[in-house]
Amino acid sequence: MTTTSTDTALEQFLDNTRDERLESYKEFLRIPSIGALPEHAADCRAAAEWIATDLRRIGIENVSVEDTVGSPVVYGDWLHAGDAPTVIVYCHYDVQPVDPLDLWDSPPFEPVVVDGSMLARGAADDKGQLHAHLRALEALFATRGGPPVNLRFVFEGNEESTPVPLDGWLAANHDRLAADFVLISDTGFFEGNLPAITISLRGMMYAQIDVIGSDLDLHSGSYGGVVDNPANVLVGILSSLKGPDGRVLIPGFYDDVVALTAEERRMLEELPFDEEALRETIGVPALAGESGFGVLERKGARPTFDINGLWSGFQGTGAKTIIPGHAHAKVSCRLVAAQDPDRVFAALKAFVEDNAPPTMHIRVERLGGGRPHLTPIDHPAMRAAARALEATFGRAPVYIREGGSIPVAASFDVSLGLPVILMGFTQPDDHAHAPNEWMDLNNYETSIRTVVRMWDEVARLDRSELATGR
Ligand code: BES
Ligand code: MN
Ligand code: MN
Repeated sequence: MTTTSTDTALEQFLDNTRDERLESYKEFLRIPSIGALPEHAADCRAAAEWIATDLRRIGIENVSVEDTVGSPVVYGDWLHAGDAPTVIVYCHYDVQPVDPLDLWDSPPFEPVVVDGSMLARGAADDKGQLHAHLRALEALFATRGGPPVNLRFVFEGNEESTPVPLDGWLAANHDRLAADFVLISDTGFFEGNLPAITISLRGMMYAQIDVIGSDLDLHSGSYGGVVDNPANVLVGILSSLKGPDGRVLIPGFYDDVVALTAEERRMLEELPFDEEALRETIGVPALAGESGFGVLERKGARPTFDINGLWSGFQGTGAKTIIPGHAHAKVSCRLVAAQDPDRVFAALKAFVEDNAPPTMHIRVERLGGGRPHLTPIDHPAMRAAARALEATFGRAPVYIREGGSIPVAASFDVSLGLPVILMGFTQPDDHAHAPNEWMDLNNYETSIRTVVRMWDEVARLDRSELATGR
């Protein structure tokens, strides 16, 4: 383990409590808090209550499980560090659905440790990171009576499905959320498990396209050549949305895209990145994407259009000669600064509708989204995070542009006007959202020390400097 001790008593506490910590981590992971599925609403509430109980036991005050239009938000604070900065800590306790179940080596909600990793849905994204924050706090209370900074906790249960509940809660609780900055632990390390700080997230626009012909499937002999085919029409629409060079063909799509500066591109190019190793990890014959841009720029600073789901017609064994009555696609765009999901949706809808043949009914429906986010790279809290990572993981972090999205990052920034720092600890190939999600226990253990170290670093910052550091 590369951990450098923050202080001996605290290290000792963490050493002595390792077994119960892992037990508690597993207990939390056993709650199947799948935020997107209504049948798991009670489990989401149970996860929220589990966190609240833990926070109260640790010594956090004003802990409450608060209703939203979705899963509850868990709030708690501890504001006894005088003039020290105040930080909002955000993580999410909801997890992704677990299908396909048969590809899991062990059941997703029966966590097991295999080869030094915790294997379970949510082990990494994001219950493991949330749990590490709780354990850092616990150690600080046990050995020093509390953290050296003022903390407010906001843990939510809809990150993986919809930003609406938390956005509503943030708007209604504005006055309770005075702070100097926000720390989100829901990102991870760079390829090869290099400690990293994420400096940008992509946004997202999600939609469904339905092409409707007849009410029922039709005999393809009797009607082939007589009516249009919804599946053919849908495929035609979808293929008109992206060119062979990987460019998205929705008019105006790139209008708001802010190109990287030469300096920003150089930063990406200097990352120790092995394209072939990545290709091999993913297991595809070749990488692909918008031509004219490198892999890291495509992932972190260029927008995309992808089909996420596609269904129509006969899916069984053998042949069935029909013209399907309807065809459907779920599609999404990852967005970059300064694209706006509402504008991108409007442009997609207009383009599809304008190019739809008169032979079919076409519906384009918005399913979700979130804005892209850039962090203030020169902020003093950013440098504190870098020092904390270096002290505990033994190596200065690299700065990465994440291809994934955390819509709440922009919400904190826009609705509360607070800088958002993204410090997370997962491995890049952690199977998040997929079967056999795992969290490296060395990363998990060390992250607890990093959080402690971070609070020690932040305690030394000057609050006036924090205010001007944006
Ligand atoms: N933790 C992820 C975001 C992320 C992805 C961070 C990859 C680092 C690497 C988050 O839980 C997530 O999955 N977000 C969704 C957001 C979507 C539902 C709007 C995503 O990116 O698909
Ligand atoms: Mn997450
Ligand atoms: Mn996720």
